[in-house]
Amino acid sequence: MKKELPIIALDFPTGHEALDFVDLFKSEKLNVKIGMELFYIEGPSIVHELKRRGHSIFLDLKLHDIPNTVKSAMASLARLEVDMVTVHCPGGSAMLTAAVEGLNEGTPENGKRPIIVGITQLTSTSPEQVHTEQLLDHKYTLEESVIHYATIAQKAGLDGVVSSPLEAKVIKDAVGNSFKVVTPGIRPELNNDDDQKRIATPNQAAHLMSDYLVIGRPITQAADPVASYHQMKDDWNKGLLER
Ligand code: C5P
Repeated sequence: MKKELPIIALDFPTGHEALDFVDLFKSEKLNVKIGMELFYIEGPSIVHELKRRGHSIFLDLKLHDIPNTVKSAMASLARLEVDMVTVHCPGGSAMLTAAVEGLNEGTPENGKRPIIVGITQLTSTSPEQVHTEQLLDHKYTLEESVIHYATIAQKAGLDGVVSSPLEAKVIKDAVGNSFKVVTPGIRPELNNDDDQKRIATPNQAAHLMSDYLVIGRPITQAADPVASYHQMKDDWNKGLLER
C-alpha cells in the first residue's frame, strides 16, 4: 500500500456503485478502503474484484469481540490477502494480541501479513463526549485517552492506530515514529459542517506526521472525483516533501 496515495473510502451501498466509481480513474491504481456498508452487502467478492483491478485494499471492519472470536475472524481476513485491517483498541490488550495472532495464522505462505491498525477514539467523537458518554474521568483528556490506547496497541503488536490528524504527532511522540498513524477526518478546507470534528487538510496532515490519509466524501461526493482526488493527493505529497 503506497503511502503517497491517499486511501479513498469506498462508502457506497452497492458493489456496482463502488466499481463504477473506481472505473472513473481508468487504469490508475488506487488505495481503497472497504468499510462495513460495502462489505456487509457484497462480502469477499468485492475484495476479489478490486484486487483483480490492481487496487490495494484497506478492509476496515473495526473488529471488537472476545479474543478467540477476533483471532479467527482476523485469520479469515488475512486469507483474503488484503493490505490493511482494523480493530477497536477498547477491546483490550488480550483481544489486540489475539487479532495479531489471527492475522499471522491466516496469512498465506509467502504472503504479506496485512498492516493492522487500532481505532482509538473515532474522529466523530468530541472532547466533551468522552466525559458525558464514555464517563472518562475529567482529569483525563480525549488526547490522553488516544495516547493510552496507542500505547496498549503497540505493546500488543499492532502496527499503528487510526486517529484524527490532530493527534498524530502526540501519538508518535509517545510511542515512536515507526508506529503508523492512519488519519481520516481529512477535508480540502477547514470550514466543514458534516460529522467529522477533528479535521485537517492533506497538507496539514502531512506536517502533523500522518502516515496514511483516508478520504471519503470530499472525493466520492465531489462534482469531479478524479480532479478532487488529484488535488488532495498533490496537497498531501507537497506536505510530505516539506516536512
Ligand atoms: O467521508 P469521510 O472522509 O468522513 O470518510 C472517512 C472514512 O474513515 C469513513 O469510512 C469512516 O468510517 C472512516 N473512519 C473515521 N474515523 C475513524 C476510523 C475510520 O472516520 N476513527
